[in-house]
Amino acid sequence: MKDFAVGVRNSIIRACYRWIMKPFFFRHDAEMVHDRVTFIGAKLGEYTVAQWATKVFFGYSNKKLEQKVLGISFANPVGLAAGFDKEGQLTDIIPSVGFGFEEIGSVTGYPCAGNPKPRLWRLKKSKSLVVYYGLKNRGCEIIAAHLKTKTFKNRIGTSVAMTNWAKNNDIAVAIEDYAKAFKAFAFIGDYFTINISCPNTQGGQPFLDPASLDHLLDALEKINTNKAVFIKLSPDMTVSAVDAILDIAEKHRVHGIICANLTKKRNADKIADKNVPKVGGLSGKPVSGMSDSLIAHIYRRYKDRFAIVGVGGIFSAEDAYRKMRLGASLVQLITGMIFEGPQIVSEVNRGLVKLLKRDGFANISEAVGVDAV
Ligand SMILES: Cc1cc2nc3c(=O)[nH]c(=O)nc-3n(C[C@H](O)[C@H](O)[C@H](O)COP(=O)(O)O)c2cc1C
Repeated sequence: MKDFAVGVRNSIIRACYRWIMKPFFFRHDAEMVHDRVTFIGAKLGEYTVAQWATKVFFGYSNKKLEQKVLGISFANPVGLAAGFDKEGQLTDIIPSVGFGFEEIGSVTGYPCAGNPKPRLWRLKKSKSLVVYYGLKNRGCEIIAAHLKTKTFKNRIGTSVAMTNWAKNNDIAVAIEDYAKAFKAFAFIGDYFTINISCPNTQGGQPFLDPASLDHLLDALEKINTNKAVFIKLSPDMTVSAVDAILDIAEKHRVHGIICANLTKKRNADKIADKNVPKVGGLSGKPVSGMSDSLIAHIYRRYKDRFAIVGVGGIFSAEDAYRKMRLGASLVQLITGMIFEGPQIVSEVNRGLVKLLKRDGFANISEAVGVDAV
């Protein structure tokens, strides 16, 4: 499709989403809408013709966006972040929506019903979601059994976390829990993310403590896998806490860092909505600046030692490009898609190509880290 036609197509879909779909979705419970959309997406993925039609509506490709990160080839740098496709039901349709990769999960060692409902809210004025799922998923065994026979068209990451239950207050038990999920996915997909920063688990975030993380990484290192390994950080950490964690990660089989997870902070200057639930973590715009600072700091301090994935508050190509210029090789999003519509993936990718041209870069990899001075 010619670039001009893609632009017209995206504008039409954006308008339909803004005036028809979004008002309809936003009138209903957020989790119910998420479940229905997942169901429809999974159904569409079953039919080649539906995959093709979805691609006609949402697809976009450009050689300038292709790159290898940690030896893995990506068709474009925009991925679906962990938490949207928790159980890997959308892997057949996500490539047609235009994403270059997706991260499934977080998947835990054992099945978990998650926290009591309601556990997902929209903050419309702040362009944010309050997420309190509590790692709802059917557990690594069922999810891995479903995925291991599949051939993926896209690059796939698996986010692993510890089951949300009191047993994991014992660090040794929690490590076994991570290891169980890690083992189940050792040869499924292209990379792992060790999620140590979920704000919604019983017992908090014990592996943000460097000594506990050291033990966890020791245990995971004993598991044979050919996949790259990322760690996902919290945006709420101080610079010294980040450095303490990464100084441990540097000594282990960790190839990359994902910046960042949901924030627990409820800073009045970033939140325009009233009555924000007290529980849960916030996504979207409130995470954006914190994620940017984390990316810039890590890139400056560790350079090529870690590949960086930038996530948090991407609503436009400019948002994605800023994170990449600060040091992220790849980016991910969820909240931008929920507020702006699924054509945002194509809009961001197409916008990135324009920004590369403006700045005289032949390939997206050339822009990575140019602003991290
Ligand atoms: C509904 C929802 C569920 C999420 N669940 C997870 C999860 O299970 N594991 C995880 O690492 N991050 C999870 N996240 C965090 C996202 O992966 C991402 O880090 C965060 O939302 C910031 O990106 P965004 O502003 O583009 O949404 C979740 C986010 C949302 C909105």
